[in-house]
Amino acid sequence: MTALVVRSIGALCTCDPEQGPAPGVVHDAVLVERDGVIVYAGPESLLDAADVPDGAVEVDAHGAAVIPGFVDAHTHLVWLGDRGDEYARRAAGDSYEQIAGEGGGIRATVRATAAGSLDELTDAARSRARRMLAHGTTTVEVKSGYGLEHDAEMRQLDAAVKLGTESSVPSIVPTYLPLHALPEGSTDAHVAGVCARGVVDAARRSRFIDAFCEEGAYSVADCERVFTAARAHGMRPKLHAEQRTRSGGALLAARSGAVSADHLEHASDSDLRALASAGVVGVILPGASLVLGGPPPPGRRLLDAGCTLAVATDCNPGTCFSESMPLMLSLAVALGGVTPAQALVAATAGGAAALGLEDRGMLRPGMRCDAVILGSPHWVDVAYHLGGDVVADVILEGRLALRSET
Ligand code: NIG
Ligand code: FE
Repeated sequence: MTALVVRSIGALCTCDPEQGPAPGVVHDAVLVERDGVIVYAGPESLLDAADVPDGAVEVDAHGAAVIPGFVDAHTHLVWLGDRGDEYARRAAGDSYEQIAGEGGGIRATVRATAAGSLDELTDAARSRARRMLAHGTTTVEVKSGYGLEHDAEMRQLDAAVKLGTESSVPSIVPTYLPLHALPEGSTDAHVAGVCARGVVDAARRSRFIDAFCEEGAYSVADCERVFTAARAHGMRPKLHAEQRTRSGGALLAARSGAVSADHLEHASDSDLRALASAGVVGVILPGASLVLGGPPPPGRRLLDAGCTLAVATDCNPGTCFSESMPLMLSLAVALGGVTPAQALVAATAGGAAALGLEDRGMLRPGMRCDAVILGSPHWVDVAYHLGGDVVADVILEGRLALRSET
């Protein structure tokens, strides 16, 4: 049995709508965990001593704010090589599409990654995952997509699965992304191979299928074919939709039973309402929006349309090289038009919804005990302190995974 009690919490941000307006703050609170699960999250004054297991590890929060661990629901964590040269070229005026058209972009990372061994891929992802944990992320979605060819894609998924068995990293949710870069040969043959063999082998490693629906990448028809094949093997779609142009991806996600539609900068308001009606979570990736330019991430617009909102890093070597969810919260507020409270809920409960996870994202009895003790009594600092070192301690499934020195 494990047991932990965090006392003297100045502000417990439960992100639980039942605790009142977002982010559901309880003052002068205690958090109690047993065997990885929350057994109490509420005011110190109402805590029954019998709720604290004998021998529980005691942690004093010294009046700091505590929030749920971040659920980063969109990342491309498994890559080799780097594209700092492209970053500099874009800053000098070349576009993402121009570089991709010359064989750079996603294809450059496929060239660097596809031949990587399982150990090389896992090692590269591990160092990024550890940085994520240090920034307060306790669950991270990890996509394939830099293998392209079947065995290399499976190796990417295997690296994500293997990493997920380790204890020093966030909980890992693998996603199969077979339609990312276009193949050298026939797109039709690639899509057919994914439908015939890819989804069968991927379904043993992942619950989700993703695709890049975009001009210069895959068409709505290509994505729909692989979604239909993947659903037959029990996988749920996610989609890179309306990122660089309005290509029909949002409506595809809405009619495909997708768990999320991601990016959405070019989506119309009616696209967003279609997502809301279909129960598709809208994921904004404000780091990628910032780096690439173009329309802002549609945070406010998704909420106005009635969607559940998530915010994620998109951590990848091309459009957003960042492991930091606190930075994404700052950007969601600055660029996406949401309040700090909405951004915090989107980064926790929203991220869990974007992965179909009902056991995390809020601090409520019965949920996994994934929590972050901030280095400040003010929860708003998580967004307000731009690029700040806001995390003091991270609790991963009830275990103190990172402990500040103080
Ligand atoms: O989410 N848009 C497609 N995929 C990534 C970029 C990946 C890359 O450039 O390597 C994204 O932005
Ligand atoms: Fe992405």
